[in-house]
This record gives sequence, structure tokens and C-alpha cells, in this order.
Amino acid sequence: VAGELGLELLARAAAAVPAPGDGLCVIADYGASEGHNSLAPMRTAIRALRARLPAGAPVTVVHTDLPGNDFRSLFTVLDQDPESYLRHDQEAFAFAAGRSFYQQIFPPATVTIGWSSIAVHWLSADPPPIRDHVFAPLADREERSRIAAHAAADWSRFLALRATELVPGGQLVIVGSAADAESRSGAEPLLELANGALRAMVDDGELRADEYERMAIPTYYRTREEFTAPLRDASLGGKLALDECVETGLEDPLWAAYQANGEIESYASQVSGFLRAFSEPCLLGPLAAGRSAGEIAGLAERFYGRVREAVTAQPENGRCAWRLILLRLTRRP
Ligand SMILES: C[S@@+](CC[C@H](N)C(=O)[O-])C[C@H]1O[C@@H](n2cnc3c(N)ncnc32)[C@H](O)[C@@H]1O
Repeated sequence: VAGELGLELLARAAAAVPAPGDGLCVIADYGASEGHNSLAPMRTAIRALRARLPAGAPVTVVHTDLPGNDFRSLFTVLDQDPESYLRHDQEAFAFAAGRSFYQQIFPPATVTIGWSSIAVHWLSADPPPIRDHVFAPLADREERSRIAAHAAADWSRFLALRATELVPGGQLVIVGSAADAESRSGAEPLLELANGALRAMVDDGELRADEYERMAIPTYYRTREEFTAPLRDASLGGKLALDECVETGLEDPLWAAYQANGEIESYASQVSGFLRAFSEPCLLGPLAAGRSAGEIAGLAERFYGRVREAVTAQPENGRCAWRLILLRLTRRP
């Protein structure tokens, strides 16, 4: 799990925040999804805070995500997963907020520790369109520079909002999906393959060209330079200090399993399923205006089936060499 690479930074953040006195100690989890991957980080942060808090002091955790997130599953995970911090700490209290992290979610100066893992590569609503591809790193130069500008504005906004929400001395830890110096995310072969499958559906008359042109995955993978640029701006840099910035790679667990067991069908299904989990709403969603739900479901089956077949034929192209950046920031007093 990618977020685990940020646990050490999170423990250092919990050791560095001002010792919470009588005030409420609040941990914000930005982009929590269904919460499975939030359990270890929240346990880590709470354990490190407990070492500094008076006995029995309450700790509040607020999991945030978009309004349409499956919060029901999130609360079920928090309630029932044996690894849930709620099962280990009677004085930990869990809440959720259904609001984009491109808006202010908390009152000013109320968040002690902010955490966000594998979420800030998702852009705010309506990024510029990509006509000849579905993946920003593979868009043409002009489209890419428009998306880069949009992503830069999003990231500055995200940081400014967190600076408002953090208490003075509060800490923000980000595990971000990143890009190398050439702006490559590491998933280009898979997304090239997926794009090829969609174009083949246009050629075969299954998809209309205008439908394909509306399809895009609204993500952007920032370079280290792009992640750190807003902090060199006087206004934001005056509020947030960058304490740690580490780039790292992420081993592809599906590829590693395939190398170990050689089971190509299982590998290809899992790669297609992985792609489907994050891309289906943005790729197939825009078709809703002109097609029935049944038609869209059929198109989705055929598209991800084609991806599965293409990965079976070219297993190496399903391999993702994701890049990550780990950031720890302090809200200047
Ligand atoms: C890949 S999941 C990450 C889940 C978990 N944090 C982890 O480390 O695995 C990305 C999450 O970010 C959320 N997300 C995307 N854009 C968002 C936004 N603007 N505001 C809040 N959450 C957002 C998505 O809904 C999704 O649940």
C-alpha cells in the first residue's frame, strides 16, 4: 500500500506538532475513500500523539472525500475491521466530511495533523479536455500545458486551504502520485494500451468519435519541481514550511505476483480490474447523456475486456512503475 511509505513522516509530524493542551486534537484524512488504507496511518498518528497527550485525552479523526464517496463502507470499515483505530483506542472519535479538498472543509486553525495519500493527483472538476488521448501525461503538448496550468492552480489552492485549516505549528503529510523529471507517471504503457482499446472501439463503430473525445481521466502527476513551486511563492511560503520531500518508486504488486506465479489470465484480469476501479466513472460517465444505463454497462464490459486481452498479449504493458513523492510541511506560526 503506497500510503505506508508515508508512515514515518506521519510519526515525525505527530512528534513535531505543538503539544496539544486542553484543545481538541484533530487529524484530517483528505481523500479517504472507503477507509481501508487510512487505518494504518491513523493508528500511527494516534499512537505517536498519545505519547505526548495527557492520559485519556480525546483525539478526533475526520475522514474526508467527495460527497459521492461510499461513506457507508467507510464507517463499516471503521466499526468492524480488526485493524481499526476505534477498536484500539477508546478515546478516539471518528467523523466524516463529504466535501472536495479544493474547498475549505474545516474552520480556520483547527486541524492538528493533515494526511493525504494517493489523492492529490485528482484534479478539481472540469479540467481542460484531452482530445486525442484519455491520460494527461500522453496528451499533446498544448493540451498538456493547459492541464499543467490547471493542476498548478489546484495544488496552490489545496495548500492555501490546508494552511488556513491547520493550527499554528500543525503538520501536513502528503503521499502524492508523482512524475519523473520528464513528467512520466510510470503508468503510460497501460494507459496507452487502454487508449488503443477505446480507439479500436471507435473504429469498430461501438463508440462514437465525439464520445471518445469527451473521455478523460482527470488526473495530473506533478514533478518534484511542480510540487514544491508554490512554497517558493512569498505568500504561501510564508505560511507553510517544507520539512521533508522524498521521491520514491512503487513496486507494482500485480506484476510482482505474475512474475512469481506466471498466471497470465489472473494477472490480466487484475490489471484490467485495477484500471477499471479508478477510470470507469470518468471514462464512461460522460456517455450518460446519450445512452441508456444498459448500453453503458455493455460498453464498459467490452472496453475492460479488450484491456484484459491486450494485457494478455503484452503483459509488460500492464506493468505500472508508479512514482511517489512524500512531503511533510509545517504551518508556520
Ligand atoms: C486512490 S483513492 C486513495 C484512498 C486512500 N487515501 C489511499 O491511500 O489508498 C483517492 C481518493 O481521493 C478522492 N478524491 C479525489 N478527488 C478529491 C477531491 N477533490 N476531494 C476529496 N477527495 C477526492 C477519491 O474520491 C478517492 O476516494
